[in-house]
Amino acid sequence: MTRKDKWNLTLILFMILGITALHYGTVSNPWPMHDFYRRLYYVPIILAAFHFRLRGGFISSALVMLLYAPHLLLYFGQLDIAVINQLLEAGMFMVVGVITGYLSEESHRRELQLQRQVSQLMKMDLLEKKLRQSERLASLGQLASGIAHEIRNPLGIIKTISQTLHQEALESGEDSLAEGLNIIESETDRANKVIKGMLDFARPEPLHLRPIDGELVLRDLLTILRSLAKQHQVEIESRLQPVPPLLADADRLKQAVMNLMLNGIQSMEQGGTLTLSLEQASDSLALITIADQGKGIDKKNLLHIFDPFFTTKDGGTGLGLSVTHRIIEEHRGTIDVNSQPGKGTVFSLHMPLAQPRIEEAQHET
Ligand SMILES: Nc1ncnc2c1ncn2[C@@H]1O[C@H](COP(=O)(O)OP(=O)(O)O)[C@@H](O)[C@H]1O
Ligand SMILES: [Mg+2]
Repeated sequence: MTRKDKWNLTLILFMILGITALHYGTVSNPWPMHDFYRRLYYVPIILAAFHFRLRGGFISSALVMLLYAPHLLLYFGQLDIAVINQLLEAGMFMVVGVITGYLSEESHRRELQLQRQVSQLMKMDLLEKKLRQSERLASLGQLASGIAHEIRNPLGIIKTISQTLHQEALESGEDSLAEGLNIIESETDRANKVIKGMLDFARPEPLHLRPIDGELVLRDLLTILRSLAKQHQVEIESRLQPVPPLLADADRLKQAVMNLMLNGIQSMEQGGTLTLSLEQASDSLALITIADQGKGIDKKNLLHIFDPFFTTKDGGTGLGLSVTHRIIEEHRGTIDVNSQPGKGTVFSLHMPLAQPRIEEAQHET
């Protein structure tokens, strides 16, 4: 029962008892006054029927009947035709209570039905969107892995040759040529980065799920990323609590978390603190969070960050988060993001544990 319900119930009871007190407390008043008092009962009955529907209408009118009937005998002293007439009229309480209650029940039912239909429609819409996205991703994946392999070799050749020419140009003092070749090299690197991202994304290999020590995986990442973080004036803080083994593919999980940490570091252009934490979220889930104090993600972009190739960075590929999303989904985990533009972003990963505590407890008993 909500607070509002409680309040309404108290008010209704208070009115019924108040009106009853009026009846019994003024037995000496002339009958027409009591006629008026009796009609006052309609107010709490109708209120009850509106607020508590059929149940409210029925119970309140029955209560009023019970409270009111003895009063009639008290007033008239005997059961004669006048009393019966009054009782019949009081029967109207029940009729009004039940009809109002029924009508309010009906409208409530219709409202619920409408709500259900709306939420069903919304769910269908969401499902369809997800389906379309996964179809798009699947075909993109096939295409990507095909193209990536084809492009990698020529890119390798372009890079090696331009490095050689670059060296020669430097030696013969052809500065503008050297500069051009330098651009070719860095652009080839960027293309390679995109291709690596696409291959990660399209990687058809199945996961190798096994119980792994989550803390160890995250500690590895800390070691790998500390020096990069330092270059960006970013301090990494770790809050790793011991948790039961995760059911995961260590390499892929590492990749997923690394992408999030890289984004976090990149988001803090003026430096700051990146916090990596691990804790147990429930009997069957661990929670990994990556929190930065960077520029945040505005609402409009939040809808697209997991789309492949969505990026707001000059040298970005827009594949990091789609790879991460995919890896977490394959693990049957979930990824959530909470961002405050100007303040920072928190990514939360809920990852399945290898042996839920419940099972352990059952084994022990
Ligand atoms: N921690 C973060 N803080 C701010 N923006 C972020 C963060 N993580 C992701 N984003 C936004 O999501 C986009 C997509 O990220 P991602 O898929 O990793 O691609 P990339 O890093 O190559 O741009 C980024 O360009 C950025 O706009
Ligand atoms: Mg990224």
